[in-house]
Amino acid sequence: MQDNLKIPVHVAIIMDGNGRWAKAQGKPRTFGHTEGAKRVADVTRAAGQMGIKYVTLYAFSTENWSRTAEEVGALMKLFRGYLKTCIKDADENNMRIRVIGDKTGLDPDIQEAIAHVEEHTAQYDGVTLTLAINYGGRDELTRAVRSIAASVKTGEISPDDITSDTISAHLDAPDIPDPDLMIRTCGEERISNFLLWELAYSELYFTDVAWPDFGPDELRLAVEAYTRRDRRFGGTNE
Ligand code: FPP
Repeated sequence: MQDNLKIPVHVAIIMDGNGRWAKAQGKPRTFGHTEGAKRVADVTRAAGQMGIKYVTLYAFSTENWSRTAEEVGALMKLFRGYLKTCIKDADENNMRIRVIGDKTGLDPDIQEAIAHVEEHTAQYDGVTLTLAINYGGRDELTRAVRSIAASVKTGEISPDDITSDTISAHLDAPDIPDPDLMIRTCGEERISNFLLWELAYSELYFTDVAWPDFGPDELRLAVEAYTRRDRRFGGTNE
């Protein structure tokens, strides 16, 4: 199938199942997150090698703050660690790294690490990895609406000029094309407040494999399934 693969430009992934994966082995949930964090580099590198240009990973949702302080702390520690180690990986693999979500809700040192990584990798044009941290689709749209409303208030734009392009332009990464393929691991078949606007026409792929077991081979299976889909945009076949 290698030669006939249709490569999506942008793949978005809900990395689900770290907790269940760990529990199945009698380990704490945080062990699942630690193993899951290791897959981030593997899968992004494999995506780049396949010719995928953009990978967006749901790393921490606006709802995830309701988990125990211990689990939130462990996840933040993993982000801190990743934001350090990813620089070498980015240098070696021409990888650009970005973050979407409400960064103002993160600890100041994490905000600084994000700014540093985004600036350091800004010129890289291989694969772009976008991490969604403190991200919610409704929150992103709410912030976009607020920003548009402010422009209306100052008279910069009139309400009649607002189109769907205006809304897209006010989202967190307006220059990144919408995902062609959205993958969710570990059995649940929901969007869970991920990229609500951007996923409007994406193909959805669900697998029972938990995120810590999701590697390059699983990514290839998803792209093979995507290749078999007959994609239509608009018209009567949505
Ligand atoms: C869902 O599994 C996963 C998360 C809430 C966090 C995703 C984070 C990582 C993969 C690790 C860190 C990432 C980076 C970028 C370093 P879950 O805990 O909801 O699993 P469950 O549904 O089995 O409970």
